[in-house]
Amino acid sequence: MTQQTHDPADGIGSLTQDLGPTGRPHREFPEPKPLRSHGPARIIALCNQKGGVGKTTTTINLGATLAEYGRRVLAIDFDPQGALSAGLGVQTHDVPTIYDLLLSRSIDPNDAIQNTSVEGLDVIPGNIDLSAAEINLVNEVAREQILAGVLRRVSSDYDVILIDCQPSLGLLTVNALTAAHGVVIPLECEFFALRGVALLIETIDKVRDRLNPAITLDGILATMYDSRTLHSREVLERVVDAFGDDVLETVITRTVKFPDATVAATPITQFAPDHQASKSYRQLARELVFRGAVA
Ligand SMILES: Nc1ncnc2c1ncn2[C@@H]1O[C@H](COP(=O)(O)OP(=O)(O)OP(=O)(O)O)[C@@H](O)[C@H]1O
Ligand SMILES: [Mg+2]
Repeated sequence: MTQQTHDPADGIGSLTQDLGPTGRPHREFPEPKPLRSHGPARIIALCNQKGGVGKTTTTINLGATLAEYGRRVLAIDFDPQGALSAGLGVQTHDVPTIYDLLLSRSIDPNDAIQNTSVEGLDVIPGNIDLSAAEINLVNEVAREQILAGVLRRVSSDYDVILIDCQPSLGLLTVNALTAAHGVVIPLECEFFALRGVALLIETIDKVRDRLNPAITLDGILATMYDSRTLHSREVLERVVDAFGDDVLETVITRTVKFPDATVAATPITQFAPDHQASKSYRQLARELVFRGAVA
């Protein structure tokens, strides 16, 4: 967990009496202060080898809300499914993609960056070509460090780079963990949520030992929470028992607005700015700034 780097003069967020879903007093995190200058980026990998837990949704909406707070954000579509690129409505064919950047140093990463409908949120797209990367990179020198090398070339223009990982712990995910300063683990509030998290944490530990000593766990984000079901509440309680303060106080509830926003190829914060889910992602952005995970 990163150190809290907030100014004590900011207070500790406004505490109220009622408890939030993670059992800690509910609080609103303070509005991030505007940045006077930008970069170099802190790189955060959104990672969980379990499929469908909210990695891509979180990358899109955290990216959009951090951009709302004036942060310059670059999102990397590091999944051959290309869901991040589709969700942000950007081109993935006949344009340079992250796959091309991994394979060829002669392509300028800046040429692969596309703007999105959200001001301040850019993306490097990915597509099915990436599925060949694991095989094509196997014989490369320092094959785990290729993405880190690519991102170094664009880091100075951004405050934060978010990597949307694929649901596996293969070479691409190891590249993401090697490039990252921090990891956010989205965890769906359902029965099998905790299965596999031990393996993921073990993988992060191995990457820390061998490739990236400075990597930190920025937080575990409970997603698809449904306060009306005992089941969802019990799962979240078990997650907090297991991971304590590593569990972010912000919790993302389950709502059909997310699939709707996906169809519209736009962040929920633009599709339904006043919806509770948009507010939750703003709270997540504020919490990560408050915890020092983002400038
Ligand atoms: N809080 C939520 N409530 C309801 N549906 C959600 C929520 N978050 C995400 N979804 C939906 O669940 C599905 C999976 O989400 P998402 O694609 O973000 O997961 P993922 O972890 O990136 O999946 P994958 O492992 O396949 O990359 C999507 O259809 C998305 O719209
Ligand atoms: Mg995804």
